[in-house]
Amino acid sequence: MRLTEPTTPVLRTRRLVLRAPRMEDAPDIARHLNNFEVSGNLARVPFPYHLSDARAWIRSRQGQTQPGEANFTIEVDGMGYVGHLGFHMQGEEPGVGYWLGRPFWGKGIMSEAVEAAINWLFSASDFATIRSGVFYFNAASLAIQTKLGFTETGRSSLLCLARGAEVEHIDTQLTRERFQHMRQASRS
Ligand SMILES: CC(C)(COP(=O)(O)OP(=O)(O)OC[C@H]1O[C@@H](n2cnc3c(N)ncnc32)[C@H](O)[C@@H]1OP(=O)(O)O)[C@@H](O)C(=O)NCCC(=O)NCCS
Repeated sequence: MRLTEPTTPVLRTRRLVLRAPRMEDAPDIARHLNNFEVSGNLARVPFPYHLSDARAWIRSRQGQTQPGEANFTIEVDGMGYVGHLGFHMQGEEPGVGYWLGRPFWGKGIMSEAVEAAINWLFSASDFATIRSGVFYFNAASLAIQTKLGFTETGRSSLLCLARGAEVEHIDTQLTRERFQHMRQASRS
């Protein structure tokens, strides 16, 4: 059985390697997602989270060949496995989601990872926009999205599996033009 996604590229940034998930990632995924501090911020991750959940999720990602469905394991030089980032189609547009294991928060890792992955997606596709969003209390994730140029498009109510409840969600969107503008502005 092929365990890696053949079309997912390896992306390298100053500190990170983003690569296709492998079945060997399952124990790390299970350990870090079985933490309510992480899963309680995500829509579709149950809590508690088991090794079998991680294995099933990796299997479900195999065979995804479209850029708008690409998933990346995030590794940091010297730290190894730290988390995940993935795109998934929401109708005609891709959405992006991401998480880091609790020990790796607050080091700028996800800002670096999301910028690299979005830059790749816009260059590998002709999507005009990428969707995302955060539960209303997730200030760190909203800060990442705002820095990259995402803007709020509205509010919705989204089921958080880990909480077993609907939670207010800030819906966001990033246009290709705004992403380029924000990147240029942050470099000048
Ligand atoms: C959200 C998450 C991905 C952030 O990753 P991270 O690598 O710690 O984020 P970064 O360090 O790159 O950036 C966080 C930004 O939020 C800011 N921030 C952190 N806590 C904040 C708070 N309480 N209020 C406002 N801003 C805050 C930081 O200052 C930083 O902004 P800056 O670079 O302008 O200083 C991580 O905490 C996580 O995985 N959480 C659980 C899962 C999750 O929430 N996923 C996203 C679902 S939408």
